[in-house]
Amino acid sequence: MTAEVINGKELSQSLRNEMTEEVSQLKEQGITPHLTVILIGDDPASKSYIRGKEKASYETGISSELIELPSSTTEQELLSQIYDLNDDNNVHGILVQLPLPSHIHEQHIIEAIDPKKDVDGFHPVNIGRMMIGKDTFLPCTPHGIITMLKSRQISIEGKNAVIIGRSNIVGKPVGQLLLNENATVTYCHSKTKNLVDHTKNADILVAAVGRPNAIDDEFVKEGAAVIDVGINRLDDGSLTGDVDFDSVKEKASYITPVPRGVGPMTITMLLKNTIKAARGFHQ
Ligand code: GUN
Repeated sequence: MTAEVINGKELSQSLRNEMTEEVSQLKEQGITPHLTVILIGDDPASKSYIRGKEKASYETGISSELIELPSSTTEQELLSQIYDLNDDNNVHGILVQLPLPSHIHEQHIIEAIDPKKDVDGFHPVNIGRMMIGKDTFLPCTPHGIITMLKSRQISIEGKNAVIIGRSNIVGKPVGQLLLNENATVTYCHSKTKNLVDHTKNADILVAAVGRPNAIDDEFVKEGAAVIDVGINRLDDGSLTGDVDFDSVKEKASYITPVPRGVGPMTITMLLKNTIKAARGFHQ
């Protein structure tokens, strides 16, 4: 079997075209969706993500502002900045780029953001709403993954979904969203024994391992849908995923590439959440 490639860039483009229309309608009502991004320090990978977010916002008509703070910023200074943004009625979405310098407690920052402006979907209130299946801001990468599966009518109900990775940003929430769609979900991680025994059982396999080409065809069931969340930069500057694309493509029924896979979908879901926030969604 040769897999169908789910191109996240193309899917993103068609979704963003619809969003551009939505934004122009909101503007006619006097609302310009506004996203404020905070970047602490000068991590090159973070800067590159942020450029992508700014470009996509601009193209969709969303106003975005970047607040760059030095890596010496204290937790208290960052919290004050967030409180100001929480109180600013012109700001609909707040995103603090992670990771943060080690002297700042990530969870304190996430919990300081008003849940109504939490376009990342990381605040415990929004995570809780997601867990009970209530409408909320869904975390962007997991939401992008579900959107990719649905775009190809890949059925989720009753399927075995196996997630490799258990981060708060990707692994845990994507498992929850698949469970909400009635999949049978297995989480694998660094302490999992006999990883292959689990992954070979997966109708839907989500790889968020963080190691280039870690998952080859030996891990994959014939006909599976394989979603590659990895973004690994190699020494030659090129990007590669966690999945060995060439071997897995011959065994899976669907596969997402890197680049042009999950990455653009994450940004598209951020735009979606920003529009949702501007519409005054929540509680
Ligand atoms: N760092 C890597 N991915 C993300 C993301 O989706 N949101 C934020 N805030 N930081 C990130």
